[in-house]
Amino acid sequence: MADNVIIFDTTLRDGEQALKASLTVKEKLQIALALERLGVDVMEVGFPVSSEGDFLSVRTIAENIKNSRVCALSRAVEKDIDVAAEALKVAEAFRIHTFIATSALHVEAKLRRTFDDVVEMAINAVKRARRYTDDVEFSCEDAGRTGIDNICRIVEAAIDAGATTVNIPDTVGYTLPMQYGEIIANVMNRVPNVDKAIISVHCHNDLGMATANSLTAVQNGARQIECTVNGIGERAGNTALEEVVMAIKTRQDLFKGVDTRINTQEIHRVSQMVSQLCNMPIQPNKAIVGANAFAHSSGIHQDGMVKNKNTYEIMSPETIGLKKEKLNLTARSGRAAVKNHMESMGYQESEYDLDKLYEAFLKLADKKGQVFDYDLEALAFIDMQQGDEDRLTLDVITSQMISHLPASAFVQVELDGERLSEVSSGGNGPVDAVFNAILKITQIDLKMLSYNLTAKGEGAEALGQVDIVVEHEGRRFHGVGLATDIVESSARALIHAINAIYRAHKVADLKSHKHSH
Ligand code: KIV
Ligand code: ZN
Repeated sequence: MADNVIIFDTTLRDGEQALKASLTVKEKLQIALALERLGVDVMEVGFPVSSEGDFLSVRTIAENIKNSRVCALSRAVEKDIDVAAEALKVAEAFRIHTFIATSALHVEAKLRRTFDDVVEMAINAVKRARRYTDDVEFSCEDAGRTGIDNICRIVEAAIDAGATTVNIPDTVGYTLPMQYGEIIANVMNRVPNVDKAIISVHCHNDLGMATANSLTAVQNGARQIECTVNGIGERAGNTALEEVVMAIKTRQDLFKGVDTRINTQEIHRVSQMVSQLCNMPIQPNKAIVGANAFAHSSGIHQDGMVKNKNTYEIMSPETIGLKKEKLNLTARSGRAAVKNHMESMGYQESEYDLDKLYEAFLKLADKKGQVFDYDLEALAFIDMQQGDEDRLTLDVITSQMISHLPASAFVQVELDGERLSEVSSGGNGPVDAVFNAILKITQIDLKMLSYNLTAKGEGAEALGQVDIVVEHEGRRFHGVGLATDIVESSARALIHAINAIYRAHKVADLKSHKHSH
């Protein structure tokens, strides 16, 4: 029987906290559902005490996820633990994750305590969490820079207090594989009650070692890996889920009898979704999920591949759910065809709004003629990112640009059902002119923090996607727009962000969040 490594996904906690603008509840739920289908054992989905928004998303996910254990983070303080339990209690079973820093540097400079205090706080925190659930994880933050005697002491105390998983994070990505493996080996050999808990690893990638460190830890006895999709996370990110999972699967000769429960066929799809919703592009040469991860460019390699794939391919693209065929639809294709294509890409109807998707598909098919599966997927992602009941919608835009002269634009929108229009001139390009007209209509005060344009699809037929991040009253909002024309994508992105701002005002929660969509 396989000796499974527990895959603990923290995309929606450690990954999300590093985003420029945080995800909406709807987006987080979409990602959680995708992670559930991927087969993660545990998903850490937020830090409920940090904001009302985080609390609500943890609760919503806990209500909806049935096949993975949902977990929330708390510092080793009573209030955090109580709030985490309150957010999670709608789930049948859940995990509370509590942590405190253990390195001398953190204990003295950050916490201004002694290590004895820290051990006591850890014990109290674990006991408090055990009041709510029998699945409690304790983490020694900055364990990578904590002396081994102190690590062993606190691990033993946490297990005695009732922790069922103890995590040894390399919070700042400082250790190298041999050294990190040795820490885990020491914990396995020296902590007398270690058999009563799972030893977990959580590596950051500051020196590019996160995957290697996690795998070395498994070889030394760790049986939980904490990771994120595409490796997103603080600074250089966390261990990439797809890398550790595919390494264990591909190198079974080295991981004899050790496996994960991940359905690897879902990897590509989840990776795309996380990249899109989190507004975090994937570098083309990223292992496993980069656009070039299975591309062979040199003549020698291509020749080898034709003769025998194994010459240059250590795993097949199909294993991670990559499809070779690029199927297309036209304006004559019906709803059923659109639904079928979505199904063949792995999307269930509950994940998207078929009516809205079909409407968007028809508009695109009229413009483009052929709509490929990747276009359809891009449209579905945009739908997942739109909120419900938008106050502001786009009717018409025209913009004019003559070389060396300022650009002008005409924009007509509907705001709360009322048709409004504006003309703007003096823009330093057509996008600027359109933005100015929209802002003149809405009179909303915002600062543009970033503007990114990406081609979705292939060649000249690609759709243009614009992602912007704006700041309004100290909070950040992400806007995304997709169209065949980049001026229209830009207008849609700004309108998306403004609708998110309106929504935040409606629930009057602007002050309680740092960032949001
Ligand atoms: O990196 C870290 O130490 C963490 C802990 C909260 C587990 O994210
Ligand atoms: Zn971390």
